Amino acid sequence: MTTSSSPSKSRLEPIASEVEKATKPTTDHGITIVIPTFNEAANIPELLSRISAAVPPGEETSVLFVDDSTDDTLEVIEKEAARIPLKVEVHHRDAPVGGLGGAVMEGIARSGSRWIVVMDADLQHPPALLSELISRGEETSAQLVVASRYTGEGSRSGLGSRYRVLVSGASTSLAKVLFPKLLRGVSDPMSGYFAIRRELVDQARRTGALRPLGYKILLELIVRCRPHAVTEAAYEFGPRHAGESKSSVREGLRFLRHLLRLRTSGAPARALAFGAIGLSGFLPNLAVLWVLIHNTGLHYTAAEVIANQAGLLWNFLLIDKVLYRGREPLGPHTRLLGFIALANADLVARIPLTVLLVSSLSLTPVLATAITLVLGFTVRFLSIDRFLYR
Ligand code: GDD
Ligand code: MN
Repeated sequence: MTTSSSPSKSRLEPIASEVEKATKPTTDHGITIVIPTFNEAANIPELLSRISAAVPPGEETSVLFVDDSTDDTLEVIEKEAARIPLKVEVHHRDAPVGGLGGAVMEGIARSGSRWIVVMDADLQHPPALLSELISRGEETSAQLVVASRYTGEGSRSGLGSRYRVLVSGASTSLAKVLFPKLLRGVSDPMSGYFAIRRELVDQARRTGALRPLGYKILLELIVRCRPHAVTEAAYEFGPRHAGESKSSVREGLRFLRHLLRLRTSGAPARALAFGAIGLSGFLPNLAVLWVLIHNTGLHYTAAEVIANQAGLLWNFLLIDKVLYRGREPLGPHTRLLGFIALANADLVARIPLTVLLVSSLSLTPVLATAITLVLGFTVRFLSIDRFLYR
């Protein structure tokens, strides 16, 4: 039984460097069961008993708790570990970075074995399935084996309220719509119970590409590591053994942001989102124009200049607070000024450029305008993507 702890860090984002330091020597055998815990003292004895009864015989198996608890979970683990034949380690974090997602990532980084299994501590994930997860993975050469509530004999009886059933179903569908190819064959991308080959996470982990937000670690792993072979094992998500769930509406909102960030992690998808945000700016632009024309004596051209700034502000807010959230190398004022300057430069430069195209290349005005619009969009997107939010 070993205990370690990590120093404080308050930001959610780059746990990568922390994780780098923690990396363990690797082997091509064995299983590490990574269990995130937050105040689960009452579940530990039963959990460890059931795990030790369930591990595949002949496999070198150890349990690694990543503990952010404020109750006596750590002491209970230390006491119970002495009772079972498995190697048990606890990594206690005094200042938990990244909540559950961060805890799981740290656990993965600290696992040097061939297989890493991630499971919850509250026995909603039956330890009895452990052997099947690994044997399926070995038989099918899969890189990832997902314990699923939505396949075969699986069920989600333990989700509790109708509200949670609805939220879980809706987020699963949304993820599948956004990632149809990657999630083909994965019926439960929100599962918190899965076995993954260490070799698959190694690369993403080295490049620091893994940045889970909140609860959906599996989805993150699939999108970042792109396993070429995934298989599933059905299980019944039962009720909690003891204690209460830590999920919340806040976790749900983080999940939506996380989905968007994952979906826009490639430049083409980001350009598309950028364009859609630009189009949505027409609405506030037109609304402000209408108000100004009907309520002030302003000439419509002057009104349009002002209304245009309203559209820009709307675009800036969406781009800054949603699309590039967490990617903010410059201060907020610099970002706002840079954004407004680029957009207005685009407006000012496009007219003379259009005139030039029409007069020197004898293009039609519509074609010339189309070219300068596309050019303006590209230049703006690239400057914003590459410089303002590098
Ligand atoms: N270290 C750490 N830090 N562990 C945490 C934290 C945290 O901030 N928050 C929760 N945990 C641990 C809990 O102690 C438990 O072992 C596990 O993570 C899951 O937490 P629950 O609070 O029981 O989550 P849930 O049952 O609502 O959600 C589970 O099921 C979902 C499927 O509906 C999780 O497995 C989700 O990942 C899964 O999507
Ligand atoms: Mn739970």
